[in-house]
Amino acid sequence: MDRELTLEFVRVTEAAAIAAGRWLGRGNKEMADDAAVTAMRRMFDTVQIDGTVVIGEGEMDEAPMLYIGERVGTGVLPELDVAVDPLEGTNIVAKGLTGAIAVLAVAPKGCLLHAPDMYMDKIAVGPKAVGKISLDAPVEENIKAVAGALGKQVEDLTVVILDRSRHEDLIKKVRKTGARIQLISDGDVAPAVAVAFEGTGVDMMLGIGGAPEGVIAAAALRCLEGEMQARLWPMDDDDVARVEKMGIKDYQRLLTMNDLARGDSMIFAATGITDSTLLRGVHYTSWGASTHSLVMRGRTGTVRFIDARHYFSRKPDYALPCK
Ligand code: FBP
Repeated sequence: MDRELTLEFVRVTEAAAIAAGRWLGRGNKEMADDAAVTAMRRMFDTVQIDGTVVIGEGEMDEAPMLYIGERVGTGVLPELDVAVDPLEGTNIVAKGLTGAIAVLAVAPKGCLLHAPDMYMDKIAVGPKAVGKISLDAPVEENIKAVAGALGKQVEDLTVVILDRSRHEDLIKKVRKTGARIQLISDGDVAPAVAVAFEGTGVDMMLGIGGAPEGVIAAAALRCLEGEMQARLWPMDDDDVARVEKMGIKDYQRLLTMNDLARGDSMIFAATGITDSTLLRGVHYTSWGASTHSLVMRGRTGTVRFIDARHYFSRKPDYALPCK
C-alpha cells in the first residue's frame, strides 16, 4: 500500500473528529454520529483507493453511508478493505466525557475479520507481553504474566475494563489480584491501542465490548506488534445467524491476531474527538480547530502523532456549526 496514503487517511479521521466534536455535551449521540459519518464519507471521496467498507455503520438497509459493502475512494487501485468507526464513543460525545475518537483501519482485501455488529470478549496487551496471555486462561494468570513481562509488581499494573454489569465478576477477580483498574464508561478502542504505548498509564484491556471495535483495535496492535485475542459473544439466535452470514463458521473459536487483522500491510489512523490517554481531543479556536491524530503503517511500524491546525476560513466545509 502506498505510503502517501497514510496522510490521506488522517485527513479522513480529522474531518470526522472536527464534525463530531461540535456535538460535545449536547445530549444527542445520533446527531454527533451522523455528523462524523457524513464528514468521513465526504473526505473518503478524495482518497485514491478502491475501498470496500467491511466494518462500518451497519447493513446497507440500516445505514445511508459507510454501510458494509459500500465502495469508498476514487475507485482507482489499490483495492482495499476498510474498517471505520467515524465516532467511537457516541455517548462520550453526547455527555462531554473523555475517550472518543474517529478511527479507521485499511488493509488489503481479506486481511480484516468481517466482524458482525455484536459483542466480543477481548484481551489486549502491548509488545512486551505478546505470547504471554491467553483468553482461555484464568484472569489472575494473565495479570501475573503481563506484570512479569512488563517487569512490574501486579499492584502497579493498570487494567482497563468497560464499566458494565456483565463485568462484575471480572472486576472482582482483577481487584483480588491487587492490580489497579481503570473503569471506562465507553470507548474501548483507544485504551486497547494505548496499552501498546509505554507512558500512557494503561497496561492491559479486558472484557466484552463491540466486535467491530475489536477488529479495528487489533489492526492498530498489528502495527504496534502488540496482541489481542478475542471470542465472539453472541447474545441470541439472531446474533448467531449474523455470524454465519458473515462467513464465520465457528463463533466459539478463539480469534488470534491472524484472524482479526492479518499481515503487515495495514494502515491505522485515529483522531481524538475528546481527550484520552491516547490522543487530545479537538480544540476549537478563533481561527478554526486543532486536532491530534495517530497514524501507523504496519509494514514499517512507523508511528506518527500529528498535530494539525485547520483554518476554517480556508476550509469552509469544516466551519459548519452543528444545526
Ligand atoms: P458506540 O460508539 O457505538 O456508542 O460504541 C461505544 C462502545 O463503548 C465501544 O467502545 C464498546 O466496544 C461498545 O460500545 C460496548 O458496548 P455496550 O455499550 O453495549 O456495552
